[in-house]
Amino acid sequence: MKCDILKMFPLSLISLLAAALFTVTGGKILYAGVNESGGEFGVFSPNNTGFGLPGRFNVDYAFINKTTVDIFVDQEKINFFRVTFLMERMCPLATGLGSRFNETYFNEFADAVNYITNTKHAYALLDPHNYMRYGDPSSQPFSGPIIGDTSDANAATTAQFKTFWQELARRFVNNPRVVFGINNEPHTMPTDLILANDQAAIDGIRAAGAKQLILAPGNGFTGGHSWTQVTGNGAAPSSDFMNKLVDPLHNTAIDIHEYLDVDFSGSHDECAQPGPSNLAALTQWLQDNNLKAMITEFGGGNNQNCFQAVSDLIQYMADNDVYIGWAIWAAGPIWGTASPCCGADTGSLEPGQVNDRGGPNAFQTVWAQAVRPNIPTDLKRSGTSGLS
Ligand SMILES: *[C@@H]1O[C@H](CO)[C@@H](O)[C@H](O)[C@H]1NC(C)=O
Ligand SMILES: *[C@@H]1O[C@H](CO)[C@@H](O)[C@H](O)[C@H]1NC(C)=O
Ligand SMILES: *[C@@H]1O[C@H](CO)[C@@H](O)[C@H](O)[C@H]1NC(C)=O
Ligand SMILES: *[C@@H]1O[C@H](CO)[C@@H](O)[C@H](O)[C@H]1NC(C)=O
Repeated sequence: MKCDILKMFPLSLISLLAAALFTVTGGKILYAGVNESGGEFGVFSPNNTGFGLPGRFNVDYAFINKTTVDIFVDQEKINFFRVTFLMERMCPLATGLGSRFNETYFNEFADAVNYITNTKHAYALLDPHNYMRYGDPSSQPFSGPIIGDTSDANAATTAQFKTFWQELARRFVNNPRVVFGINNEPHTMPTDLILANDQAAIDGIRAAGAKQLILAPGNGFTGGHSWTQVTGNGAAPSSDFMNKLVDPLHNTAIDIHEYLDVDFSGSHDECAQPGPSNLAALTQWLQDNNLKAMITEFGGGNNQNCFQAVSDLIQYMADNDVYIGWAIWAAGPIWGTASPCCGADTGSLEPGQVNDRGGPNAFQTVWAQAVRPNIPTDLKRSGTSGLS
């Protein structure tokens, strides 16, 4: 999510409209689920480097609410959760990016991951929510030295990033239901540096002996609509580089984010962008390069137009077998009445919560209308995370 996550826009409550009915056809969707956002919270304070670090568990940040994970797995029958964390909390600034972890923070994170995977038998995507930057999350997504930027003396190196991933993967090497997400939404940096950092992460993960699925992001906030286009600061298209990744186990897919509002930011209540046609060039590129992708962030607001647009996007993934899964943005234990996406009155996807008007949140609107009818019934339930 690339906007101020807690920014609120006063909008009037839009009443619920009748449900549209959609049926799920074949397809190769293996993973379907939701973001669990919260492990990265509590650091936003522009020009105030270090604010909220290390932070207080269950006050400034939290990973999941086990009760609502139960609801998602037992009632909604999803099998996939994207669990966010902050690299500056996992690897404190004093010791830097690498193999020295804050064991307290790691254990809190691992407890969430292990609950999802070992207890609930769902898959968990580990998401360092860092925009491929490390050192100053106070004004994400823009603050912090770019990982691997050799012109910045404060930047962590690509080698350190590899070491970090090797250590994280080592700790989950025996958990088949884990998926490794290299980083959230790289942007405004050289695309060849993203390739180098992605490759270093893959190399580190495989060096640890981990065989699970890896998701590799591209540039431009890893946007699907702009995959074949120049993005911020004239950066070369992701499509020029991300087909050069080498995984000896052939178990890496492309990580895509795709919001449906006018500027693809997920900050507006109206869905003005058609997902399927905006993704056509990406889909062709995936086919041409024999690659798979997951859309690990998308969303829509609390209105009929968005219910249709979100449903269309999920259907498009089901109809095109280069897509193996998806996760909508976002549930999580400490959103409260705030909206992670798509207009102030939408609220979060966390069951049991309301929106900022006291009305139904996105779990009761967007999820009920556009997601629940499209959850495949043949999701992967066992075995090591992978492309099949
Ligand atoms: C998942 O949710 C968090 C919280 O907004 C968000 O910052 C991240 O970009 C999403 N993936 C994210 C976290 O965008
Ligand atoms: C933060 O610093 C930048 C650069 O010095 C400045 O342009 C910006 O206005 C500052 N923001 C705040 C909220 O103080
Ligand atoms: C590690 O994380 C915990 C929980 O946030 C925090 O209380 C502690 O101060 C952190 N330790 C370091 C060295 O950052
Ligand atoms: C977890 O979710 C349940 C069900 O909505 C709710 O009753 C409970 O208060 C939540 N716990 C926390 C710590 O948010």
